[in-house]
Amino acid sequence: MANFNGKKAIVFGGTSGMGLEIAKLLQQAGAKVVTASRRGALGKGNDNMQNEIVDVLDREALTALFERHSGFDFLVNAATGGPRAIGPFLDMDLDGFQGSFAKLWGYVNSVRLAAAHMAKDGSIVLFSGYPARKPRPGALAIGTVGNAVEGFVKLAAAEIKPLRINAVCPGLIDTPMFAMQGDEREKHFSNTTKDNLIPRVGKPEEVAPAAIFLLENQFVTGTIIDVDGGAILA
Ligand SMILES: NC(=O)c1ccc[n+]([C@@H]2O[C@H](COP(=O)([O-])OP(=O)(O)OC[C@H]3O[C@@H](n4cnc5c(N)ncnc54)[C@H](OP(=O)(O)O)[C@@H]3O)[C@@H](O)[C@H]2O)c1
Repeated sequence: MANFNGKKAIVFGGTSGMGLEIAKLLQQAGAKVVTASRRGALGKGNDNMQNEIVDVLDREALTALFERHSGFDFLVNAATGGPRAIGPFLDMDLDGFQGSFAKLWGYVNSVRLAAAHMAKDGSIVLFSGYPARKPRPGALAIGTVGNAVEGFVKLAAAEIKPLRINAVCPGLIDTPMFAMQGDEREKHFSNTTKDNLIPRVGKPEEVAPAAIFLLENQFVTGTIIDVDGGAILA
């Protein structure tokens, strides 16, 4: 298990899904964790787990947050950013397509504004998603955003060194990002994953350790780890 005693992490989107799971692992490994999201966390925090209410699209609020926690070691950004446009490209509302890029801008804002406030050997983890490299009906907009995130990670790595930056690329993961419930939810998960090499939806607990690896291993930067049940090869 990683030893993050004495380290401090800021986890955007750390109140739900994969971000929440990463925040828990960081805390278990001894780090002080600040989760940040628009609505805040449900439970009360403690000395090692604080919550801040911040929108990743609000640069002023981000700057203030990073100033408050200056010297922190790890930045994880798993925030979805805003609504995503789903559906066929030729029928797509172009404002919706453009709006899906809120995720990219949230990531870019956080990396750009955090860099000056992070420890020199700090490490950053962002999230793309399997539609970036697996063409799938209806997922062109989010796939394009995922490619932008992966490209940003590879290009930024050279410019922000010795800070390290990497991304996790999840497959379909059972998180609150999907609003549907009951049978509809189960059907969506099984229909979408039935042709994958591992034909089931993934769990946030199966993805979070990949982020911990990227934060801990000091010989890895500018790379993408797929945790997708073989979705890309299906
Ligand atoms: N789940 C999947 O199948 C899947 C697949 C591929 C890629 N991904 C990517 O993986 C990442 C994590 O997804 P998830 O499924 O864990 O999502 P999730 O459970 O929906 O959690 C999203 C988190 O982001 C926060 N958030 C959203 N917009 C924000 C904003 N503008 N400012 C600050 N915080 C914001 C949310 O809190 P508030 O609403 O309170 O702000 C929440 O804590 C995302 O980048 C997603 O695109 C997910």
